[in-house]
Amino acid sequence: MEAVKSGDVVGLGSGRTVVHAVAELGRKARTGKTRISCIPSSYQVLIEALKAGLKISSLYEHPEIDITLDGADEVDARLNLTKGGGGALAREKILAVASKRYTIMVDGRKLVDKLGSSRPIPVEVLPFAAPAVKRRLERIFGRAEFREGSGKLGPTVTDNGNFLLDVHTGPLDNPWEVERRIKSIPGVVEVGLFVEMAHEVYVGFKDGVKRLSRS
Ligand code: A5P
Repeated sequence: MEAVKSGDVVGLGSGRTVVHAVAELGRKARTGKTRISCIPSSYQVLIEALKAGLKISSLYEHPEIDITLDGADEVDARLNLTKGGGGALAREKILAVASKRYTIMVDGRKLVDKLGSSRPIPVEVLPFAAPAVKRRLERIFGRAEFREGSGKLGPTVTDNGNFLLDVHTGPLDNPWEVERRIKSIPGVVEVGLFVEMAHEVYVGFKDGVKRLSRS
């Protein structure tokens, strides 16, 4: 929170971790000393931000963001990330790239040697192309599954109206190459591999917080 200054445009990632940051930003804004505008990456975090009393904005008003706060599903030693466990990867990546500073918050269980080792890689796809993309991904990686909805029968539909495939790649030696390869398949909207994007990662452990930085 110390990184967020009055006047900042703040991108908000999605997920359970970021909700704590949103509540804290709300407290900070209510003091009246910190004026911020927030750009949410999903309906989940939009609703949380409204509850916290934060001012909502958009990339149309602010195409450049000062800082984006986000969670992650995996973090490797180079601060590359796997994201999309909550299905918000496409908008999160758009905010990350539009941000001067991209700050990640995780707990220690998210640290891995190689991305893909603890979970499949989420891929957002256009519904029209989804079966063909699935087949192509299975040819390359062996296993890809549609993410099922909960509270709804059938596939998860993202905030962008697309489907999600979870691709069981196994541990990745070169996440950048895998991202590039998946992204080149027509119908793929975004891949949940965030390579060389995070400027810093705050890792929560039972006995305190450690800051990891790329620079
Ligand atoms: C949302 O789609 C994701 O990218 C989240 O940022 C990621 O899954 C981390 O979520 P949690 O904070 O809920 O673990």
